[in-house]
Amino acid sequence: MKSETPHHNLTRHWQALDAAHHVHPFTDTAALNREGVRVITKGEGVYLWDSEGHRLIDGMSGLWCVQLGYGNAELAEAGCDALKRLPYYNHFFKTSNPWTIELAAKLASLLPEGHEHVLFANSGSEANDSALKLIRYYWNLKEKPEKKIHLSRDYAYHGVTMAAASLSGLTPMHPQWDLPLEGFEKVPAPYWYGARAAGYGDIGPDEFGVVIARKLEEKILELGPDRVASFSAEPVQGAGGVIFPPATYWPEVQRICRQYDVLIHLDEVITGFGRTGEWFGAGPTVLRPTS
Ligand SMILES: Cc1ncc(COP(=O)(O)O)c(C=O)c1O
Repeated sequence: MKSETPHHNLTRHWQALDAAHHVHPFTDTAALNREGVRVITKGEGVYLWDSEGHRLIDGMSGLWCVQLGYGNAELAEAGCDALKRLPYYNHFFKTSNPWTIELAAKLASLLPEGHEHVLFANSGSEANDSALKLIRYYWNLKEKPEKKIHLSRDYAYHGVTMAAASLSGLTPMHPQWDLPLEGFEKVPAPYWYGARAAGYGDIGPDEFGVVIARKLEEKILELGPDRVASFSAEPVQGAGGVIFPPATYWPEVQRICRQYDVLIHLDEVITGFGRTGEWFGAGPTVLRPTS
């Protein structure tokens, strides 16, 4: 029998506690029960270590969010300073604080022109729920309360809450929870590498970008432009397969959404904050926005 090192003992201990008390999202529970959880004990730069002493390159950067690396001293010091000075206060009831105010102003200076306001959330999923609430509020204020349908794309990933999972186009996310909720509809993704398999034949990326954008137009016309509130999309689709849209796609989507008065909701959870080489995916590298 293989002799156990102290590492192995600790791993077994944590695995048993985890199995007894911790529920994992996005996990094949049968496989987890069979194999036991991997326990990550340390991070530094792009590396992680597990409790068995393995060093791993974190190619996905956590859930795409550790672009400044693990063990970043500057971040740790800023966090520590904030925790000591004002560890918590809310923004409800006409209240703010210097850190929130200055961060909102800084973000406004980095966002594409015309975006002046920031509403903070605690996760990407919650941010998307908040975006849908703002979209509904907007159309209610515009006295178009019948605009309630939210369009999004196949292979989309927008998060785990009821609304964010409904927006998501990864179908294994739906049946267990009776999702999507009513009023969530899908259109095809600009997935050029899959075009032949999807029956589009020998089509170039530029032509494909326009063809797929026009599937959005067809859907809007099928549902009725008066009922369609928004089109949600990641500038580059991440979890669905890192799908980079053809150059022709976004300009045509923008033309369509303008024409039918449909709001574009960009989910920048994994393309924002410098991860495409621009501050946001809505910058020139990905969207190449038209005026
Ligand atoms: C595009 C996108 N939107 C939303 C989310 C959800 O963010 P969170 O895990 O912070 O809820 C993710 C997570 O990876 C994501 O990739």
